[in-house]
Amino acid sequence: MKTRLTEMLGIRHPIVQGGMQWVGVAEMASAVSNAGGLGILTGLTQPTPEALQKEIDRCREMTDKPFGVNLTILPTIKPVPYEEYAQAIVDSGIKIVETAGRNPEPFLPLFKGAGITVIHKCTSIRHSLKAEKIGCDMVSVDGFECAGHPGEDDVTNLILLPLAARRLKIPFIASGGFGDGRGLAAALAMGADGINMGTRFMVTREAPIHENVKQAMVDASELDTTLIYRSLRNTARVFKNSIAEKVVEIEAQPGQTDFEDIRPLVLGAKGKELFEDGDLDRGIWSAGMVVGLIDDIPSCQELIERIVAEAEQIIKERLNQIASA
Ligand SMILES: Cc1cc2nc3c(=O)[nH]c(=O)nc-3n(C[C@H](O)[C@H](O)[C@H](O)COP(=O)(O)O)c2cc1C
Repeated sequence: MKTRLTEMLGIRHPIVQGGMQWVGVAEMASAVSNAGGLGILTGLTQPTPEALQKEIDRCREMTDKPFGVNLTILPTIKPVPYEEYAQAIVDSGIKIVETAGRNPEPFLPLFKGAGITVIHKCTSIRHSLKAEKIGCDMVSVDGFECAGHPGEDDVTNLILLPLAARRLKIPFIASGGFGDGRGLAAALAMGADGINMGTRFMVTREAPIHENVKQAMVDASELDTTLIYRSLRNTARVFKNSIAEKVVEIEAQPGQTDFEDIRPLVLGAKGKELFEDGDLDRGIWSAGMVVGLIDDIPSCQELIERIVAEAEQIIKERLNQIASA
């Protein structure tokens, strides 16, 4: 498949692995890139900018294909030296950056000056248009289905993607709810130049997380995610385990939610430990509604090849037959 995404990034298949806290390390990103997609290292998964540079070097040893780095600019429990991470990305010679969270404008002179292709991930048309205006090269449009932060508008991709196609000039990537060839064919039909997946890539052989977490997502249905931090206007879609349900319960109590009441439940360190030891009720983890479409744990190569083959078959056979009947 050839799209503006494959051409601009120099990749074989129009499939991107979005930044994933604690998951987007060299093993994950290199597996996706080696399979012909775009793997992305998650900048803030590394404890310091120096550690990120080492992780970039490690990823380079594992693949000679293009890969990117995600820089997520969101409210965090601990303050983050974003400028130093951005500089580390540039100094490492990275040529593709996925920004997310807040307006990436302050970082654009640095990134564009270094010849970096900037993909900004956003959850609304107004933010996509803003990203185009300030000079981002592409946007990733994250619908309400997505894992992590879907924003506060609650608009699904069936509306967001055609709107993006109507209004944007720059290429856009469909993100949130994608996991199979039907999704890829639909995204291309709606005007996207490819898909971005998080949750589906977590459930692959190479994802560096405990088998219990992968199996829980295989066993889950489309009803097994929930939205937390709604009351704080920082909504996040996570796997519906006992901790997430407890957070929702605290938020539902009358009056303004005090973050201190939920902080011990949602600590990033606990999510990290959960990924390591497989204790599914230790903390929270991001997961999208697409868990309902996941029923196996393939390698990244098997997954990507299957998605592309299925999408090509739908386009060439089913859609072609319908259109020429
Ligand atoms: C475990 C996990 C962690 C994530 N962490 C981040 C992150 O740190 N920064 C970010 O921009 N997006 C993050 N995301 C969102 C993904 O990059 C992607 O936008 C999203 O997963 C797409 O929706 P999907 O899960 O339905 O494919 C995360 C997703 C998952 C599943």
